[in-house]
Amino acid sequence: MSLRNRLAVFIGVIVFTSWAHSLENAGPREAIVADLSMLEKVGVAPKAVSNELGLGMALATSDQQKMISQVAHADGRCGGYEKLFLSRQQKMQGMAMSSPSLFASLIDHNQKNKAYEKRFRLFNSSVTLDYSADVAEAVSQVDFTKIKETVEWLSSFETRYHLSSTPNRHIDPFVQRLNQMVQGLDFNVDVERISHSSTRQDSIRVRIPGLQRSQEIIVLGGHLDSINQSWGDLAPGADDNASGSADLVEALRVILAHGPLDRTIEFFWYAGEETGLVGSGEIAREYNATNKDVVAVLQLDMTMVAGEGRFTMSSMTDYTSSWLREYFGELNRHYIKARVLEGRCGYGCSDHVSWYRQGYPTLLPFEASLQTFNRKIHSVRDIVDSDSDFQHAAMFAKIAVALGLQLGNSTDRQPY
Ligand code: BES
Ligand code: ZN
Repeated sequence: MSLRNRLAVFIGVIVFTSWAHSLENAGPREAIVADLSMLEKVGVAPKAVSNELGLGMALATSDQQKMISQVAHADGRCGGYEKLFLSRQQKMQGMAMSSPSLFASLIDHNQKNKAYEKRFRLFNSSVTLDYSADVAEAVSQVDFTKIKETVEWLSSFETRYHLSSTPNRHIDPFVQRLNQMVQGLDFNVDVERISHSSTRQDSIRVRIPGLQRSQEIIVLGGHLDSINQSWGDLAPGADDNASGSADLVEALRVILAHGPLDRTIEFFWYAGEETGLVGSGEIAREYNATNKDVVAVLQLDMTMVAGEGRFTMSSMTDYTSSWLREYFGELNRHYIKARVLEGRCGYGCSDHVSWYRQGYPTLLPFEASLQTFNRKIHSVRDIVDSDSDFQHAAMFAKIAVALGLQLGNSTDRQPY
């Protein structure tokens, strides 16, 4: 590097650092968890650290949060931080700030999983499922051309951003479509809009009440909103997440054709995921607060760009339950036959985390690996194009059908 270039880099670093410092006191701060390296890069001092996980908790202004996102993006990661929802009491006592052990308990999902896996091995209770011709028949009904049609339609809206001036522009016709799907059935299905206090955008729930144990709920969900984090306002969000949303519509079609199950099945299309799991956060907190008995939560988010090749996917191992990951392994062996890699978001990357934080078992199968996922998300380029693979996307609708039918008609469950 020439002396001139070195000087330019040096000045750049100085300007960036003083900019970061000038932002430090601007606006209210929120508790976040981020990689220690990210916090260091933007000059935010952590209040507590976990060296084992390489994570720190800090108080950050919204500008600082944006900077962390930008630095994380430059590192090829999305988001890069997550907000902490502390209880009112924790906030009042400022406990999380002063207590490393509370901090550890807030971010110890990995340790929890490790402890569980140890117990799991001790009792040798790994999951084995028998093949069911009924489940196989249902899975074979999944039609990838229907998924394609729904993705094309959803990504044709200018935006599905929850902070846009018309946050429900796509919700109205989407609910209409769902209402048409449940017309003329000889059993009861509820299609409901769920309004939120933190966003003007509505979430949507379709509920198929169970015939035997209706208080036991299987959740199949994904976020319907989109975002543009580069230039312009257009946010087609085809892969992220018209794809998972369309998979759920197709899974609903197939499951409806197989009638009500023993347990209740609830489909969700969440609002406002893209700025911090807003819709699912409210819903999961409300489910826990009212003691709803959720047996399993499947999240579909990004399913149609096959970065590792068609029919290779990842199963995320953080913020997910080892029981459901094993259960999924059995369903895959019998009905899907995908190649499944293990992956980690490394932060609260999607709505399943909202449920996981409330103590419910979750599962997140994902389109590719963290090295090869679709980099066009959150931009005007996330459209249906030659990278879109609807047969790949259809695998995830099959997972929803298989999980829904298998768990829906059984008494299987484990704590996580
Ligand atoms: N679909 C993404 C999450 C994702 C992206 C998973 C890339 C795996 C690889 C999701 O819609 C999203 O953008 N999540 C946010 C986090 C949220 C808490 C604001 C993100 O990753 O920035
Ligand atoms: Zn996203």
